[in-house]
Amino acid sequence: MDLEQAIYGRRATRAYTHEAIDPPLLEAVIDAAIQAPSAMDGQPWGFCILRNPALLDRISDEAKALMLRSPSPDLALHRFEEMLGNPDFHIFYHAPVLILICATKDSPWSQIDCTLAAQNLMLSAYGKGLGSCWIGFAQSWLETDEGRAALGLPSGWRPVAPIIVGHPGGVEPVPLREKPEVLWRE
Ligand SMILES: Cc1cc2nc3c(=O)[nH]c(=O)nc-3n(C[C@H](O)[C@H](O)[C@H](O)COP(=O)(O)O)c2cc1C
Repeated sequence: MDLEQAIYGRRATRAYTHEAIDPPLLEAVIDAAIQAPSAMDGQPWGFCILRNPALLDRISDEAKALMLRSPSPDLALHRFEEMLGNPDFHIFYHAPVLILICATKDSPWSQIDCTLAAQNLMLSAYGKGLGSCWIGFAQSWLETDEGRAALGLPSGWRPVAPIIVGHPGGVEPVPLREKPEVLWRE
C-alpha cells in the first residue's frame, strides 16, 4: 500500500469480526513496529500479545470498574461515565487481539519510542487489511499490580500502548482534522 494511502486511510477501528489473526501476520506488524526510530537506537520495546477472549473480557470489566472507582482528574472521564457503566460496553470492542507495547528500558525516551512503534504497528496493520485502535481506557488497570500479574509482565516492563487488532467489521467514520496552528518563522 502507498504510504500516503495508509496515513490518510487508517482509522480507529471499533467493530471487528470474530476471525482470528494468524500469528505470522501479528509477527509482521510487530516487525513493522520495531522499524520505528528510537532515541540512541535504544529499541526499548517489548510486545505482549493477548488472544484469550476470557482474559480480554476480564480486563475490559476490571478497567471500567477502576476508571469509575477512581477517575483520573486529568482524563475528564466524566464524559464517559455512562459508557463505562454500561455492562455491554467492551473497551476492546471484542477485537480478537490486544498487543500491549511496553517500555522495557528505564530511559527518559522509552515511552516516546514505544509510541512511535505503535504508530508503525497501526499503519502496518491497516496496510495488511486489519483494523486497529489504541485503547487508553485499558492503561490504568494494566499498570496495577493485578493487571501486571494477569499479563505476567516482567518487572522492568511498563505498559505504554494497548492496541487492539482485528479484521474490521464495518466502515469507520472519518473524524475531520482541525486546522493546526502553524507558525512560520523567517
Ligand atoms: C493515546 C490514545 C488513546 C486512545 N484511547 C482510546 C480508547 O480508549 N477507546 C477508543 O475507542 N479510542 C481510543 N483512541 C482512538 C482515538 O479516539 C482516535 O484515534 C481519534 O478519535 C481519531 O480517530 P482516527 O484514529 O480514526 O483518526 C485513542 C487514541 C490514542 C492516540
